[in-house]
Amino acid sequence: MSTPPSLKIAKRSAIDPFIVMDVLNAANARAATGADVIHMEVGEPGGGPPEAVLAAARQAIGRIPLGYTEALGRPQLRAAIARHYDHVYGLSIDPAQVVVTVGASGAFVLTFLAAFDPGDRVVVPEPAFPAYKNTLRALGVEAVRLGLGPATAFKPTVALLEALDGPIHGLIVASPSNPTGTMLQPDELAELAHHCRRRGIRLIADEIYHGITYRQAAASVLAYDRDAIVINGFSKYFCMTGWRLGWLIAPQSLIRPIELLAQNLFISAPTLAQEAAIAAFACRAELDARIDVYRQNRATLLKALPPAGLDRFAPVDGAFYLYADVSHLTDDSTALCSELLQATGLALAPGADFDSEHGDRFVRLSFAGTHEQVAAGADRLVAWLRR
Ligand SMILES: Cc1ncc(COP(=O)(O)O)c(C=O)c1O
Repeated sequence: MSTPPSLKIAKRSAIDPFIVMDVLNAANARAATGADVIHMEVGEPGGGPPEAVLAAARQAIGRIPLGYTEALGRPQLRAAIARHYDHVYGLSIDPAQVVVTVGASGAFVLTFLAAFDPGDRVVVPEPAFPAYKNTLRALGVEAVRLGLGPATAFKPTVALLEALDGPIHGLIVASPSNPTGTMLQPDELAELAHHCRRRGIRLIADEIYHGITYRQAAASVLAYDRDAIVINGFSKYFCMTGWRLGWLIAPQSLIRPIELLAQNLFISAPTLAQEAAIAAFACRAELDARIDVYRQNRATLLKALPPAGLDRFAPVDGAFYLYADVSHLTDDSTALCSELLQATGLALAPGADFDSEHGDRFVRLSFAGTHEQVAAGADRLVAWLRR
């Protein structure tokens, strides 16, 4: 029998891994052998969803058949999200501009497909959440790296944007940022928004870490540009990672294009999660108490790590990450993280996930877990550094 010709694998699938998920696999494989593992690689809130969300989910299972919802999301949830903008930012948002998505991750796919064509160029400031560039690449859109560093506190600026060559069709900003925790001040965000408006650049703001801040509340880009696209979701402040629910807010002209894409790509976001999420907006006191845990975790790390030689971080004004320079220890932080996991069971994320040029000199510690986990992780790391 002749060998059949080998079947093609599309080049567009040849994107970089989301390394954190590979580290999570390795850490879980280790835990499955009975070894003791502390997860500080993944940005997953330790506490789980609020009790009222769980109660709403239990009730929905018995009450409704949980069929598909409208492709743009349950109207009650879209209205609740719109009210959230009034409550938190004093911004009036038309529920018709709110789209419920399969996580913020699903919102990126819809946004990138609706806003950009293959070959368009979108600026991705790095270090950044790796899915921005990887998703853009899979869709045939060029991710233009804008390298950031301590000189601008890891923040993008108009001057840095203007120094880039070639046409630019879009810009992604995240404040608070993953992995650095830095935040754009309102005037800095406004300046970027006005620049994008003047130049016809589509501005996309990932606001998924809003609500998780330590010095001042985060400003929404919608205060400065009603044509910007906001992406947010229930995974971080609302502690609902596995429920796979997010949202986007887009100008009216993009809603029908996004609806067509959503109908065909996803049909609808998970119905059970949508029903439950409506209850999440009434749980602010419980959710704000989680921020106190992150604040305590943050303080524990900021106290424990400098005496052990880890003392160069981005400012950690928000989110639940500490992005630490480890260049005095290694020029291969992926190897360092794997050695650390093998030796101690502590899982961290190597910087290569977030920055293709300088990431090998950084690691990211997630302090989203419980205080016991983070304190134990800090002890393990310090003991290992001092070995
Ligand atoms: C900056 C940022 N945006 C988006 C996401 C994806 O969130 P979701 O779980 O809603 O898909 C993450 C997850 O870690 C993130 O850190």
